Parts: sequence; structure tokens; C-alpha cells
Amino acid sequence: MPTTNSLLYARHLEQRSQQVDQALSQLGFDALLIHSGRPHKRLFDDQHPPFRAHAPFVAMVPLPFAADCLLEFRVGRCPRLWFCQPEDFWHLPPAQPEDWWADAIEIEAVDDPEGWAHCFDSQRALAVIGDSSELGGLAVTATLNPPALLHRLAEDRTVKTAWERDCLHRANERAAQGHQAAAAAFESGAAELDIHLAYLAAVGQDQDELPYASIVALNEHAAVLHYQHRSAKAPTLSQSFLLDAGSDQHGYASDISRTWVGPNHAEFVALIHEMDALQLRLCDQMQSGCCFVDLHRQAHRELAGLLHRAGLVRMEPADLLAAGITCYFFPHGLGHFLGAQVHDVNGQVDPSGDPVPPPDTDPFLRLTRRLVAGNVVTVEPGLYFIPMLLERLRASSHGRHIDWSLVDHLMPCGGIRIEDNVLVTESEPINFTRQAFAGQA
Ligand code: GLY
Ligand code: MN
Ligand code: MN
Repeated sequence: MPTTNSLLYARHLEQRSQQVDQALSQLGFDALLIHSGRPHKRLFDDQHPPFRAHAPFVAMVPLPFAADCLLEFRVGRCPRLWFCQPEDFWHLPPAQPEDWWADAIEIEAVDDPEGWAHCFDSQRALAVIGDSSELGGLAVTATLNPPALLHRLAEDRTVKTAWERDCLHRANERAAQGHQAAAAAFESGAAELDIHLAYLAAVGQDQDELPYASIVALNEHAAVLHYQHRSAKAPTLSQSFLLDAGSDQHGYASDISRTWVGPNHAEFVALIHEMDALQLRLCDQMQSGCCFVDLHRQAHRELAGLLHRAGLVRMEPADLLAAGITCYFFPHGLGHFLGAQVHDVNGQVDPSGDPVPPPDTDPFLRLTRRLVAGNVVTVEPGLYFIPMLLERLRASSHGRHIDWSLVDHLMPCGGIRIEDNVLVTESEPINFTRQAFAGQA
């Protein structure tokens, strides 16, 4: 009896195989091989960073941690997976393929990482996606990473199949559990490291399995956009907490941010409420046909109103927006595509592959396209008190319009980011993250 998983996955692979067939035929290839990758040791060391399979492979096969596998597409044929199960007493060999996904694919087990190589010696018109150092002779005889094919496959990935939507939804449910546990740990005064461990325990995944390094930031650390440490020492006073952390579901990522504050900081409490309402208004605008650059600008317009209402900037919203003051408080982009990569592919090209760079004023905006149904995006406006940027603002001609005593009062709280994962549809957007949190209430 097929499960929901197996049906969704089989349809996903069928749809992607048809897209691959079309692309191969149009570009003059007979076959495509997608390699999963191989762990690489650090220089002069026998240790390697945590391994994750190449994303073009993960977007086809739910094996995000399988090394030395090869996925073979031939026009008109069922895809074949060369599944590497090396004989190894140092490591646990990969588990046997599970029926729910393996039934959709032809599987050839090999015990040698390049056990498949001899099969392609005389193959003509062969494209390969992978790292040249991992492909042996194929890197020379085949066409390696042809840009037009890479673009076509990446473009297909911008519109999620039902299987991918389900994975993204579940990755949100899993991460929401972790966020709740982390919030409770923050409220008990835990150190960043202990909050991180509480998150992992609740999610049931180790850091190496997560789609990106969790950002676990107490107090002023929240002003560091990609704060990379997790202090083992609890601060004397934990005033605020920003968590940006996701989870993995069969290779698909969630990417969620929340900000919490203790009850005694009324101004920061009010700011978080305002940011939450602002973020929800933006989520509602993730509509098919909208240009993400315009949505990013809308976020700045919204923030200008908030800075004015909060009394942080004593200028009319339109004037402070025109003066570029919001950029000192919100220096990153509104969001990005999400999928098998946390910053998923083709955010800055148009459907034909031509670059669509971000505006000069918004160099960190990762998504510059017009949205279509099936896109999954993050919506992550922020408001930060970043000393480096605020010093520049203070020194500028606009510095006199800022309430610096209020800034000083808020500075120890670092900043706010609220980030949801949203599916664009033909009608109303679907907010996977809010649904996940609501399901736990
Ligand atoms: N977690 C990284 C980001 O939000 O883009
Ligand atoms: Mn993000
Ligand atoms: Mn994030």
C-alpha cells in the first residue's frame, strides 16, 4: 500500500525526470549524471567538515548525507541511482534504501566510490554535474557542469512540487518545536550553548544535520546578523534573545527567526510586537506577479513608519525613508528562495537565465525576481542596533534627528528579526511557519 510520502515522492521524481529529459533533448545531451559529492579533508589533517550532498542531487533523491552516489538520467528511461555502500569498519555504511523512495528509482549498489565509472567510458553526449576532483575520468570525457543545463535544472527548482512543499512544511513543524524549547530555555536564564542544546534535543537533529549553523544570540549578540558563537556562560542578565534556526526534512530546509524579550523592557517588547505585525503584513503580500524588489522596498517603507512611531527617528516616515535612514537599522534583504539549499538557487536571474542583480542601494538582497505560484520564500524583516552602523548614522547629517538616549536604552537588546517561510500560490500565500507554531499552541 503506497504511503503519502511514496506517492508524493514518486510524482516529484517523475516530474523532475520529464524536465530533465526535455532539457537534455533541447541542449543536445543523451544522458546526465549528478554526483552526490564526497567529504574533503582539511589541509594537512585527516578530519573533514560535516558532509552534505550536492544540492542538485538532494533535489532529486532524499539522501542529503549520502556520499559517492551517482544519479543517472537517460532520455526516456527511469532514473538510476548508483548507490555507494562501501565495505568499511571505521564508519557505519549507508542504510539500505527504504521502499517509500526506492520504489520510484532503479538502484544499482556499488561498494567502490567509483564503481560506476566503467559504465560511461564510451558514452557520448554525456553531461555531468559535480566537482571535477570527485569524478575521476568522467571530468575529462563528459561535459562538466554545462551552464545552460545547470540553469534549467535550477529554474525547475524555483517552483516546488507537492513533495517539496510537504518537506518544507514538515521542516517548519520540526523547527517550531525547537524554537518553543529554546524560548523556554531563554526564559530560564540559560547560556547560548544550553539554549542551542535544548533546540537540538527538541528538533531531534544534530547541528550537522541542520541546513545552516543556528544563530543563537543573547542580548547585544542579536545585533550581529550571522552571530557564529554559542557562549557557554550565561550573561548576568538575559534581556533579549534572537534565534535563527531551521531543520531538515529529507534534504529540505526551514529557516525561521524569532526574537523574545523579558517582561521588564517595555520599549523592546513594544518594538517586537510592531515588528511582528509588520512582518505579517509583508507575508500577506507574497503574491504571484509581485516583484520581490518592490516587496523589499515596501519593507523599508513599513520600517520607516515604525521608526517614526517608536520615536527613534524624529522625521516624517517619507523623509526618513528618502534619507536612507532605514538602511542603518535594516541592512539585509527581505528574504530569499528556500528549498534544498537554505539560500536556494536562481534568486538573481530571470527565467531565461539573464542576471537580475540587486539594486545598488540593496546589495544584500538575494531575491530580485517576480514571484510565481510554487515559489517558497523567506520573509525576514529586521530592526537592529548595530554599533558600527549607528556610529555612521550619528556622524551623518541625519544624526541630529535620532533619539540617541532611546537608542542607548535599546542597544543592549541587540535587534529583532522575524522570519517565516511562505509558499506563493495562485491565491493567498500559505505561511508554513505560522501554521507550524499555531499547530503547537
Ligand atoms: N539563516 C540565514 C538567513 O536567514 O538567511
Ligand atoms: Mn533566511
Ligand atoms: Mn534565517
